[in-house]
Amino acid sequence: MRPSGMGGTGGGGGGGAGGALPLGDLRKAAAAAGKRLGTAVDGVALRDDPSYAALLAREFDYVTPENATKWGPLALGPGIYDWAPADAIVDAAAAHAQAVKGHALVWHQQTPSWVTDAMSADELGAALKAHIEATLAHFRGRMRAWDVVNEAVDTSTASGYRESLFWQKLGPRYIEDAFRWARAADPDVLLFYNDFGIERLGAKSDATYAMLRDLLANGTPIDGIGFQSHLSIHRYPADDDLRANFRRFAELGLRVNVSEVDARTLLMPATQDTRWQAQRIAFQQVVGACVLEPACEAITFWGFTDRYSWINADGDPDDPLPFDRSYMPKPATDGILDGLAGLLPKRGDNLPRNGDFAAGADDWAASGGVLAVEAADGRAGSAACVSGRTDTRHGLTQAALLEPLSAGGPLFFAAWARLRGAPSAPVIAELIVTESAAEPRLLNVASRVAADTGWIQLAGYVSLGFAATPTAIDLQISGPPAGVDLCVAGVELRPLSAR
Ligand code: XIL
Repeated sequence: MRPSGMGGTGGGGGGGAGGALPLGDLRKAAAAAGKRLGTAVDGVALRDDPSYAALLAREFDYVTPENATKWGPLALGPGIYDWAPADAIVDAAAAHAQAVKGHALVWHQQTPSWVTDAMSADELGAALKAHIEATLAHFRGRMRAWDVVNEAVDTSTASGYRESLFWQKLGPRYIEDAFRWARAADPDVLLFYNDFGIERLGAKSDATYAMLRDLLANGTPIDGIGFQSHLSIHRYPADDDLRANFRRFAELGLRVNVSEVDARTLLMPATQDTRWQAQRIAFQQVVGACVLEPACEAITFWGFTDRYSWINADGDPDDPLPFDRSYMPKPATDGILDGLAGLLPKRGDNLPRNGDFAAGADDWAASGGVLAVEAADGRAGSAACVSGRTDTRHGLTQAALLEPLSAGGPLFFAAWARLRGAPSAPVIAELIVTESAAEPRLLNVASRVAADTGWIQLAGYVSLGFAATPTAIDLQISGPPAGVDLCVAGVELRPLSAR
């Protein structure tokens, strides 16, 4: 997207209805793709910053209040609401023909201060029900959708649920109840479950899938799922992985939203230009994955300008959004346009030598244990198996990848893995990067739980950058406990480009 397309924001803040502003390239491309393109909206910036308001109106057709429709910000006391800040966002959206998703009726954060552990289960349940009823009644006819329950799954707890106040007092029933109360309060609005870390296939996504499958089976009214997608360009899910995951939720009958995209860049040690080019690929791939899946109806960014990102407030300032701090389009906007055109990043030549083991064990070694190449059990072609492992870090390595990887940049990684001697265990693929005089740096490129019953694919996108001139780069695949044999097949590490 050329900066000239963004000129002349003056006068846009006045917000005339329907067609007063020319639509921007992103908004036009989203309409052409048949997808909604959304952003979270910062109510203060919308009120006080005309450039923000103008760009928002021009480039997006879907908005989510970033904070204004959460319980805490809305409710000053039990049954006492200040709707004005949220109404301002919803009204501005209507003035620019933007649909709105409310966010979020039940979340463990930003709850009102008077919602506490001192409440009985009955009191808490009644307060939640009253909140859902009051809020849906207030916004009736003005919202397209609501995130009803946000972030209820937690695979690190014994229960598998986030053990929030709601869970502790009400049990997992609160999830089902919230959706039922919401449907009864407004039968016309779409109801979503929303969570983070469920974009890729894996344990948390599996747990969320099982929860929603069971809730739907007992008639809970859930219309869609939001995959938050707070990404970092140094490591993020590959498009095949995203698409397979989107598809299985779609097969439950759910609409798919990519609901809170941002992609921090500063975990990749590189110049701003290199980081932003890598960010372009990341945005292209997540947008492209949605565009290519019919069930995916919307991609929403968690803000659009680096000037106002929650990440700046929450930790180290970063540049995770498509427009810079002066509202100029970053390379990421070209990534969004390419993704909206249905173009995924292009994968180049395979960089490891003998990645399919057709030449036996040539170019590969064991970092411990004994390496043997054999016909893959249950898969065409050959596999390299490491037995006699006495450490989790023993596995398969290929050294001397410095020359093909010295330019760094975005990469696609994939490998198939299968175990012998344990039903399941984690497998981890890493690039081991040595930079002059420093300890080697481990860059996790993909990890997944493998099994002894069949092959699973580890896949991921990474952006490789350097803090100093690299002197060696090795690839290592390891991870299962000592004594477990690790077999690997079909290793791919390919540079990514936009076209
Ligand atoms: C964040 C907002 O962006 C911040 O301004 C606020 O301080 C905390 O919440 N997942 C969600 C969002 O579902 O509601 C969160 O928004 C970001 C993570």
